[in-house]
Amino acid sequence: MSKPRLFIAGNWKMNKTSSEAVAAIAELRKDLPNKPGLEIAVCPSFLALGAALEAVKGSVIQVGSQNVHFAESGAFTGEVSCGQLKDAGISLAIIGHSERRQFFGETDDTVNKRTHAALKAGIRPITCIGETLAERQGGQTEAVLERQLSLGLAGLTPEQMEKTVLAYEPVWAIGTGVTASPQQAQEAHAFIRAKLTQLFGAATAGKVLIQYGGSVKPDNVAELMSQKDIDGALVGGASLKAAEFATLLRNAACVLS
Ligand code: PGA
Repeated sequence: MSKPRLFIAGNWKMNKTSSEAVAAIAELRKDLPNKPGLEIAVCPSFLALGAALEAVKGSVIQVGSQNVHFAESGAFTGEVSCGQLKDAGISLAIIGHSERRQFFGETDDTVNKRTHAALKAGIRPITCIGETLAERQGGQTEAVLERQLSLGLAGLTPEQMEKTVLAYEPVWAIGTGVTASPQQAQEAHAFIRAKLTQLFGAATAGKVLIQYGGSVKPDNVAELMSQKDIDGALVGGASLKAAEFATLLRNAACVLS
């Protein structure tokens, strides 16, 4: 099925120096598909955000961070606040990525706090959810998604929910080369959309962009993006090489109406 809009974001994780980020953006700019309805972002490390913002000037590429803290300021060594991001010109942030949950103690509660703080500051959150392999094999996928959605999005108004992008990333598909089949992904996205309907109403649920993430590549992106409830992708490995990411974007753009 064709789509009116897609939002594809590259999550560069702990890769690329500032100069490497600038070079990748310069290469990507030469090769971008120009399709209305296609939103594109790259999320470099904090240190490369300023240089990346300069490098995207005059293009449609947005720049986001990979995290943001909920406190305005204070004793939170290693964290970055919404105010600091805004001051640097950043208004997009990935929140609650599974690597943050797995390695840095992120919980549904901290994801909720970070999402609230970002929205309050005018930063568009890409809030991540997704089950582990053990949870999927244990038949827990829906229960896990339900918990992550109700706790992670608790207290948001429907207006705030509309501004929030969700990324469904089954943890077993991240960086493993194993992608959820388009059917598995669509099933999870439909469940998420139904839960959003319950929590925020159908009108809001229909407007929320839900990205899929986990081994999205140039050769599987079109089929994934053509699923009814998949509105974009959060791309790790395949966003690191500009030429590969450009091909992925072009293939995704074919799905746009
Ligand atoms: P991957 O990562 O595309 O390398 O699987 C996705 C992500 O972690 O956002």
